[in-house]
This record gives sequence, structure tokens and C-alpha cells, in this order.
Amino acid sequence: MDFKEELKKYQTLVEEELKKYLRKENCPEKTLNESMEYSLMAGGKRLRPILTIATYKLFKKDIEKCMPYAVAMEMVHNFSLIHDDLPGIDNDDFRHGKPTNHKMFNEATAILAGDGLLNNSYIVISEDIKNTNNKEDLDKKIQVFNEFSIAIDRMIAGEYVDTEFEGKEISSEYLEYTHKNKTGAFLKLSVRMGAILAGSDEEALGKLTDYADKIGLAFQIKDDILSVEGDEKITGKPVGNDEKRGKCTYVSKYGLETAKKMLDEKTKEAVNLLEDFGEEAEFLRELAIYIKNRNK
Ligand code: IPE
Ligand code: IPE
Ligand code: MG
Ligand code: MG
Repeated sequence: MDFKEELKKYQTLVEEELKKYLRKENCPEKTLNESMEYSLMAGGKRLRPILTIATYKLFKKDIEKCMPYAVAMEMVHNFSLIHDDLPGIDNDDFRHGKPTNHKMFNEATAILAGDGLLNNSYIVISEDIKNTNNKEDLDKKIQVFNEFSIAIDRMIAGEYVDTEFEGKEISSEYLEYTHKNKTGAFLKLSVRMGAILAGSDEEALGKLTDYADKIGLAFQIKDDILSVEGDEKITGKPVGNDEKRGKCTYVSKYGLETAKKMLDEKTKEAVNLLEDFGEEAEFLRELAIYIKNRNK
């Protein structure tokens, strides 16, 4: 398997699917719709929906069945990014190499664009649930819907703690708590949605959940590292912003070298957790390594 090629294929698949949900009609809130589209189609890596699809694929081939959930995941992720960049939270001016939503439009529009994407994610999922007749599928989807809502609650909690403790030194427990919630909850959800929808048994679901926990933490440790030594031209977002806002991160707490070691450890653990899944899980193993090595 050529990982880069496979990743590109997945990204194209997600992009094409997202386009189906864009609202183009002429209406009084046309600019609001444009601002949602602006962020949703800005060039994200699409890792969360890809995790959902690739996990689903471990068990079943009819991936179209998990696509509404992949789409909803990317919508809710972009909601979190728009709000994360707002003046009241991280106050960042660019993302994906472009002005952030509130800079491109205005603050009111950005707040509402975030709200809109959050709510649209629920519309997409609830429409799919409404159109499900099979009782077994319905049960799985209701569980996923519940986990989806809880993960958003956790992301919000993580964002709150992250903001609340700006300028303060926090314990390693609190730091892990913040990262696991603000970032880890969505990565865990992405993997679990794919597994649950595909009908994974409890044992496999447990292993995949552990894998997702590891990559979730690894993902944010890497984000902390990129905020120190990334290249803005590649990351497309400000470097040095964590330090400027006095954020406690894995780098500020443990230093760059230890943070990198921790990232390495989490990645190895994640890869090992997929041992039993054989060839089929090659993409997910490579994805963990990609998260560690990524430069954007
Ligand atoms: C950025 O996530 C926000 C964090 C949780 C650290 P991504 O790096 O996945 O965002 P995209 O790829 O720009 O959408
Ligand atoms: C973003 O965390 C997490 C969410 C949006 C939920 P950060 O603030 O650390 O991520 P970037 O660096 O802005 O992408
Ligand atoms: Mg933030
Ligand atoms: Mg931020």
C-alpha cells in the first residue's frame, strides 16, 4: 500500500462528499452559508472523517453507509476551529494559510458559522437515522448519535480548561485532561463511529478505542510541537501563538525533547494496538506514524 496515495484518495472522497452538503441558494443568510463553506472547504487534512471511513473499512466494504457520519465529523471539527480562532479564545488571524473566519467575515458571522456547522452536523446524522428502517442498524446509529453528542461536550470542556488556564502552570494531570478532551475526544469518536457502525465486536472496539486515545494525545502533542518549531508557510496557522498566550502545552511543561519522546511513545503504542488486525489495518498504522511526522 502506498500510504500517501491512499491518503489522497480518502481526502478526495471526503472533499467530494462535503460538496454535496454546501448551500448555494439565494437567501437572506447567503453570506452566512458562504462563511460556513469558506471554513469547511479551506483545505483541512480531513483526518477525522478519514479515521471513520478507514475504521469502518476494517470490517465492511459498503463505506457509503458511514459517509454521513464522516461528513458530520468534519463539520463539527470545523465548528471547533472557527470558535477556537475567535478573539475571545485563541485570537488567531489565519488558518489553512488564509484569514480566519472572523477576519474574512466578521465576529458575529464567525460565531454563527460555527453554530451553523455544529447544527448541520446534527441535521446530517438525524436525517440518516430518520431514513433507517433496519432495527439493528438503528440501534448502532442511536449509540453513535449519543457518543457524538458526548464528544462535543468533551471538546467544549477541553477548550474551556485550555482557555481558563492560560498564563498558569498546570499539573501534568490537568494538561493531559485538557488534551484528551479538546482534541482526543473527536479523534476517539471518529474511530469509534466507524467501528460501531460497521458492527465491530467489543474486543475489537476496545482495542480501536485505545488506539484512538493514543493518536488523540499524540496529535495534540504534535500540534504543540508545531506551534514552536513549525513553518507557518506549511502549517498555514501562526507559529508561536501558544507561547504568546501563555498556554501550558506539552512543550512548555516538559521541553521540546521530552515532548518528542512522548509523541514517539504514544505513536508506537498506537501502532502496536493494531497488531491483531493484520494487513487490513496497515493504513491506520501508517496514519499514526503520519500524525507523528506531519509538518502541517
Ligand atoms: C487542528 O486539527 C486542531 C487541533 C485539534 C489541534 P487539524 O490539524 O486536524 O486540522 P485541519 O487538518 O486543519 O482541519
Ligand atoms: C484546537 O486546539 C482544539 C480545538 C479546536 C477543539 P489548538 O488551539 O491547540 O489548535 P490550533 O493550533 O489552533 O489548531
Ligand atoms: Mg485553542
Ligand atoms: Mg488554537
